[in-house]
Amino acid sequence: MPLPLPRHNQPPRMLRLKDGLKDGLGRSITYLRVSVTEQCNLACVYCKPRTGALERAEPPAMSRNEVVQAVQVFTSLGIRKVRLTGGEPLMRRDLETIVAGISPEVEGRVHLTTNGVHLARRARGLRDAGLAGVNVSLDAAERGAFERLTRKDGFSRVMAGIEAARSAGLKTKLNAVVLRGWNEDQILPLARLARAEGIQVRFIEFMPYQGNGWGKDQFMPAEEILRIVQEGLGIPLEEEPVVGLEEGPARIFRLPGGEGKVGVISTLSADFCDRCNRVRLTSRGELKACLFGNRPVDLLEPLRNHATHEDLARLIRQALTEKLDCHPMRRGQVPDLADGMWQVGG
Ligand code: 5AD
Repeated sequence: MPLPLPRHNQPPRMLRLKDGLKDGLGRSITYLRVSVTEQCNLACVYCKPRTGALERAEPPAMSRNEVVQAVQVFTSLGIRKVRLTGGEPLMRRDLETIVAGISPEVEGRVHLTTNGVHLARRARGLRDAGLAGVNVSLDAAERGAFERLTRKDGFSRVMAGIEAARSAGLKTKLNAVVLRGWNEDQILPLARLARAEGIQVRFIEFMPYQGNGWGKDQFMPAEEILRIVQEGLGIPLEEEPVVGLEEGPARIFRLPGGEGKVGVISTLSADFCDRCNRVRLTSRGELKACLFGNRPVDLLEPLRNHATHEDLARLIRQALTEKLDCHPMRRGQVPDLADGMWQVGG
């Protein structure tokens, strides 16, 4: 059931017209990623700092009503697709309710990014709540490598989660971050998994932010990843034409002889900022116009203090006029993501 907006948050009639949301450079912003929690049950080497300071359990900053209300402001402005991320979104018991609240707002285009550990027992319920698809983060196709990277066990549960998601009818893709020295030996096993299972695996270039151990030595560019797949499988990869922005920034290649596909997301080596269509809401209710830039803009406090729909819409539009043309790494600068990926949700 969609949660009704309180009266003061109701969009005025005029604004209900989906006239689209544009940033300052004229890019159409149609896709919202929402981190619903900072908590995670894995400790991936590239994500969590090893200090342990973040291990403490914190209640989610936004209540489920607040998540839904914030999303409703965005959808009234023209957002057409929502992805829930984290942290690990399945750490929230009320995720199904959140999905049910958002799904009607975007005609069912609600997706989830998860590590898959708890997916097996939640896949059907999430589908019933209106979830369209899941991206499962899986950086290794072999148990040992999985444990090295995530610093936890759980490999079998993730594989069961993927299976459950597919049999529940959720569109299911896999995402793997590639770190040289950690899991480049998993590129081929993951590509073979894609071929054997008829699933899509997308390899993501390792992105830097403060304290995540990024270094040039660990960075592997998309072209090299593709070469490893092509040479290892010994088959030519056929690139698929780019269909629509909403499919995201990956270059996708068909694996001949089945449904399997591999993709690469080249955030650093060949950025796609000119076609950026996304904006992010952190688990603390802050708008991030660019993942690696733009200061967060707090929406939660105004929401809690009964800001009108127009006030919130103005804050969002203002933040989007300032959305960077491209992330700062292109200019060799350190990204402005001091708080880490677990807040912003990738
Ligand atoms: N570089 C690239 N991808 C990352 N992710 C998390 N941290 C990084 C990073 N430093 C990925 C997760 C997940 C998605 C939300 O973002 O593995 O697939």
